[in-house]
Parts: sequence; structure tokens; C-alpha cells
Amino acid sequence: MANDIKSSEITPESVYLNRRNFIRAGLVAGTTLATSLAYRFFNPPPPKEINTAQIENLAKPPEFKTEEKLNSFEEITNYNNFYEFSTSKTSVARASEDFITRPWTIEVGGLAGKPKVFDIEELLRFEQEERIYRFRCVEGWSMVIPWVGFPLKKILDAVEPSGKAKYVAFETFYGGAKSSNPNVKLPEGRNGMQSAFAAGIDLPYVEGLRLDEALHPLTILATGLYGKQMPNQNGAPIRLVVPWKYGFKSIKSIVKITLTETEPPITWKIAAPDEYGFYSNVNPDVSHPRWSQATEQRIGEYTRRKTLPFNGYADEVASLYNGMDLKKYF
Ligand code: MTE
Repeated sequence: MANDIKSSEITPESVYLNRRNFIRAGLVAGTTLATSLAYRFFNPPPPKEINTAQIENLAKPPEFKTEEKLNSFEEITNYNNFYEFSTSKTSVARASEDFITRPWTIEVGGLAGKPKVFDIEELLRFEQEERIYRFRCVEGWSMVIPWVGFPLKKILDAVEPSGKAKYVAFETFYGGAKSSNPNVKLPEGRNGMQSAFAAGIDLPYVEGLRLDEALHPLTILATGLYGKQMPNQNGAPIRLVVPWKYGFKSIKSIVKITLTETEPPITWKIAAPDEYGFYSNVNPDVSHPRWSQATEQRIGEYTRRKTLPFNGYADEVASLYNGMDLKKYF
């Protein structure tokens, strides 16, 4: 690091003693440091090559797709939000390199007639579809991502939600199996994740949907992207994707799904209830208290573009919210 270099090593003694030159040398050294920091900021060290396995049974051509230009694999896997590993978007890839995702199960239960623990290998044997979706983060950036996965409805139907179930709660991995269910099998310990204190949010990360949102055909459990199994930094081995909602609803590395009668707590609403709501549908007309949501920065573009209501999926999902005041239920 720059701090380890003694000034005498970079500045000859005679110059060192001349006050004017001393100041000038200091400026040059400062500029050199600033330039190298700026260089490092714009050119972070490349992460180890990500070489996840190919998704085997990619059966159907993409049924739901946008024709917009895709973001590259490099962009999608090097600009991430995954607070369990790092709060710096460009550091998540490296910080999550050693995250172990086998064995892995998802425990699906709660208000369900047939609760079940699904093994990841079983879920990967489901027919997988490609879904090319816009992805809009609440922070104001967006990407176009070719996900691979299957409708969440598939596993919810399998466990037979009871008539009382109105919501679905999700939980991310955070420390080995705590379940009393002997079929739950997960990696040991915290598995490379940082403390909740370092992450600055309560952990495990939790999220939720209304049952009708969860059963909507656009809502998927994603097992990969670009035809390959999910990279760690994007939520391996399986994460939620709800394309008409802000990105934080798309919870990563899921271990538990619970059908509930009441609205489940969600991480960002717990952290800042005035800033983040349970619904968090992409809405250009409802500003975040600290910034407008009217426009967004598509990663890789130079100018901002207009944000679309429901992230462009209004035709498919607006009817889910008929009669609701979306400024109140933000
Ligand atoms: N899930 C967990 N467990 N932890 C997180 O920090 N960040 C959310 C969401 N899911 C997050 C998470 C946010 S804020 C966004 S924008 C997306 O993941 C980012 O997904 P990506 O890194 O695949 O683009």
C-alpha cells in the first residue's frame, strides 16, 4: 500500500530539503496516489473466473423476454448488492468466492397441507426456463438479465397452501442448519458471511410477498443466469426474482419459504420503515425520501432513462393492485 512507502524512498534527499520543491513533490506524490486510487476504483482486480456448471435442462425458449440489450455477464457478476458479504458492490464477487452451496435445501412450510424440504439437486431437475427481465434497484440503477429458473408457483402448489395462507416469507442462509427438521441440510457455520454489525442490517436477510404476487407467472426462483448455474455473488444456489419490484425484494441464497397469514417482516423495512415499504413496486411517481425514482441509470449507458411503472410489467401485474392506493402501500 502507498502508506508503506517512506517519503525518503520516493523523494531524493536534496529535493527533500528544499521547501518549495518539497511542497511540489508532495503534490506530485498526492496526485500519483490519487491517480492510482482512481485507477483501482475504475479497474478493480478481476475476480477469479466464474465457471459454474451449465444448466442441464433448459427446456423452453424464453417465453417472457424483453428485446432490450442484455447486460454482460461481467457487469451482472461484478456490480452486486449482497450485504452478507460486502456493502461495496464491486467487492461482493471476491468476498463471496468461497461461499459453499452444497449440500443445500429449501424448507417450505408454514400454512401448508404438505410441507416439504426440497434439495437443490431436485430443484435443478425441474424444467428450467430462460427469463430475460429488466432489473431495477431502488438505488436508481438497472440492468437487463437473462435469468434461468422456474415459477415459484411450482413449489408453492406442491406444498398445498391452506386457505388461511395470505403471504409468503423468505429467508436467506445465515449460519448452518438451525431447523429441527432432519431433512434440512446446509453448509456449516457462517460460510464466509460477515457479522450483522458489519453488514449494517439484521441478519438473516428476510423478504416477503403477498400470496397472489408469489403465484404470479412472472415470479421465479432463479437457479442461474446466462445458461449457467447461479454465481455466488448473485445469490447461489437459488434466489427470488420479482421483476416489477425493486431489486431488494429479490432475496438471495434462500433456505426457507413459509406460508403465513399476516404480512411478514422484511429486512429493509425493519432497517428504515419510512424509506422502504412491503410492496416496493417500481413506481416513477413515488420518490424515495432521499431521491427521485423517475429515472434510472442502466449499467453500461451514459444517460439516464425513464423508469417505467411496474418496471415495464404493468400490463401483466397492475391488476394485482386494483383499488389500492400505491402511494400509501409503497
Ligand atoms: N439478498 C440478500 N440475502 N442480501 C442482500 O443484501 N440485496 C438485494 C437483493 N437481494 C440482497 C439480497 C438488493 S438491494 C438488490 S438490488 C439485489 O439483491 C441485487 O441483486 P444482484 O446483485 O444479483 O444484481
